[in-house]
Amino acid sequence: MKHSDTIHITVIVDNSALPGFASEHGFSLWIEARGVKILFDAGLGSAFSRNRERLGIDLSETDWLVLSHGHYDHTGNIAPALEAAPKAKVCLHPGAFTDRWSIRGGVAKPTMMPEASRRALEALPEGRMVYAEGPVELAPGVHLTGPVPRRNAFEDPGGPFYLDTEGKRPDPIEDDLSLWIETKEGISVIAGCCHSGILNTIQHIFTLTPERRVASVMGGLHLSKASDDRIVNTAEGLRRLDVGRVVTSHCTGEGATERFRELLACPIEASRAGMQLTLP
Ligand SMILES: [Fe+2]
Ligand SMILES: [Fe+2]
Repeated sequence: MKHSDTIHITVIVDNSALPGFASEHGFSLWIEARGVKILFDAGLGSAFSRNRERLGIDLSETDWLVLSHGHYDHTGNIAPALEAAPKAKVCLHPGAFTDRWSIRGGVAKPTMMPEASRRALEALPEGRMVYAEGPVELAPGVHLTGPVPRRNAFEDPGGPFYLDTEGKRPDPIEDDLSLWIETKEGISVIAGCCHSGILNTIQHIFTLTPERRVASVMGGLHLSKASDDRIVNTAEGLRRLDVGRVVTSHCTGEGATERFRELLACPIEASRAGMQLTLP
């Protein structure tokens, strides 16, 4: 653990926004860490370009486009992002291309990556695609988890997700990945939707590093429709890990954020599009 420089994160797309910024149900972060510039997810719709322009983020500097998973609300602007980022490599799990649906009240809604995004990825030369079928180091001390084993029974994928329109084949969202960065204060974890579960994700990271201090957890934790039991179990797990700071985004939900504030002693913040923050 020799890296000490600060991580700068700008929230481009989130479910809520600072005044003057657009919000939408999607997620996208601009991360500057250890000398690399990472576009972490590509939002859903027009909030991405509106907010990015206002923030003055120059996508031509992108080293990596990382996709936390293939859901539409994280992959909406891949085509314009890649067009603006000629040197960016893309890192994703091959399962991100999976056709998938969420089914509520018998109605199947497609949740897969939009066609234009898929085509933009397929058009890239092979040398610019990195498939995270296991852990990947993007820069010194900056890693992607690769697929996360699901050890805690209570951490299910977080919704009625299926690989078919009849609801016969549950979608484990095996392509769900998180970023983790070694810092002088421990590990900083950055999740997209965290369909793997944040505790499963941290337990998996612990198999990849001897570090046991968790400086911060940030991102979508997919608890907006979770039972209170699950939220309490998650908070209890984070408390036991002595997590230093939690920044809740996207699909974490206001209810879970409030419960974390009640149950955890560490600082809990809700992120908003337009926010710029630093992690240790
Ligand atoms: Fe999401
Ligand atoms: Fe998702």
